[in-house]
Amino acid sequence: MGKIRMAVLGAGPRWMSLVETYTAHPELEIVAICDRADGYAENACAELKRIRGMEAVPYHDFEKMAKEARYDAIFIDCDPDIQVDFAVSEMDRGIHVMTEVPAAYTIEQCRSLVSAVRRNGVKYQLAEQTRYWHFISQWREMSKAGEFGQIYYAEGEYLHYEKAWDYFRNKKTGHRVWTDDPSLDKDPDYERTWRYRTFMEPIFYLPHELSPLLSITGGRIRTVSCCGSNPGQSYSGFDTRDLECALMQDDKGVIYSIRAGFTAPYGFKRETGAHWYQIKGTRKTVEWARSTEDLPKEYTLEGGWVTHPEWGCNDPNAEEPFRSAAHGGADYYPIYHFMDAILNDHQPLMDVYLAVETAAPAILAAESARRGGVRLEVPDFRKC
Ligand SMILES: NC(=O)c1ccc[n+]([C@@H]2O[C@H](COP(=O)([O-])OP(=O)(O)OC[C@H]3O[C@@H](n4cnc5c(N)ncnc54)[C@H](O)[C@@H]3O)[C@@H](O)[C@H]2O)c1
Repeated sequence: MGKIRMAVLGAGPRWMSLVETYTAHPELEIVAICDRADGYAENACAELKRIRGMEAVPYHDFEKMAKEARYDAIFIDCDPDIQVDFAVSEMDRGIHVMTEVPAAYTIEQCRSLVSAVRRNGVKYQLAEQTRYWHFISQWREMSKAGEFGQIYYAEGEYLHYEKAWDYFRNKKTGHRVWTDDPSLDKDPDYERTWRYRTFMEPIFYLPHELSPLLSITGGRIRTVSCCGSNPGQSYSGFDTRDLECALMQDDKGVIYSIRAGFTAPYGFKRETGAHWYQIKGTRKTVEWARSTEDLPKEYTLEGGWVTHPEWGCNDPNAEEPFRSAAHGGADYYPIYHFMDAILNDHQPLMDVYLAVETAAPAILAAESARRGGVRLEVPDFRKC
């Protein structure tokens, strides 16, 4: 098999932050990049040429790229709430697909993603990367070795404050505007972006917490309820909620508490930025540093609290390019495992079931918050 020829849909900041990391894979060739915004695909192709000497063709229209360009796989990195339709149409013509977080925004999208993978037998992977952080892998190993005893509680938060987010897009150029000024909402030349839509209900963005926690507990979320703070408190003129908090239970009875928010000022944590995690078991509790001023720690009855300054995001024994990848070394793992699945005909590590098992609880959490916190049942996509 020659190199894997890959197309990219969506050349926004996320793709630009991944270009160097992903193209470090020796078997990968990027052949086409599509973005509807003026100049983005051209810039991304120029960057690819500058970094790797690869010649990719820029496109502004997905249908045109799908018709003209020849590729084996596509990385869909556009607005996450519309990505499933692109993913399904690509899988239906035999293209391997990787998409970004969150995998889906409706239960119907979850179902259509699963059935597209089943009927086509192609590789689908979600590019969720926090599950590859070194301390998460260490906690996973501790769990496999039974060190926690019975895990009964898992907690996570993603509180990522920025003074201004890219809430609007110029309808003509496609360029986004980072602003804390709501007046563009009334300007007919601008429209709301997926970030505006997502941050109104921030719990949609919980997969970066749920994915690593589920990889440690081995559970599947069965029930969800959620409540949110009042809209429009920190960013006046915007309807965003500063925080939503979901309470969930998995098929083994483990309780999960996960919160997400993007608009109220809050400090970052050591190494993980806006992310934080905790696992409680009958024998041991572990938790990540709560700020930049403290350390990760564990508690046991015998040993009391012990800090772990050596726990970190980067695996000190990992080879390049894992070590130098963005997000504390995590960003190379998704492309590595996606390529491995294609080249060696494996089930991708973060397959479609694991992907929708992080998306569906978020979708139902948002619905629960809208309905006053009612408890909702998450479908089992492996049985549907
Ligand atoms: N895993 C992570 O840590 C992480 C971090 C940031 C973003 N993300 C995800 O990555 C994705 C992209 O994020 P971003 O910040 O770059 O978003 P963005 O909105 O800034 O960029 C998306 C790009 O897709 C393009 N696009 C949208 N619809 C299109 C269409 N129909 N045809 C062609 N181009 C189209 C837009 O013009 C835009 O340039 C999102 O799914 C986001 O959730 C993941």
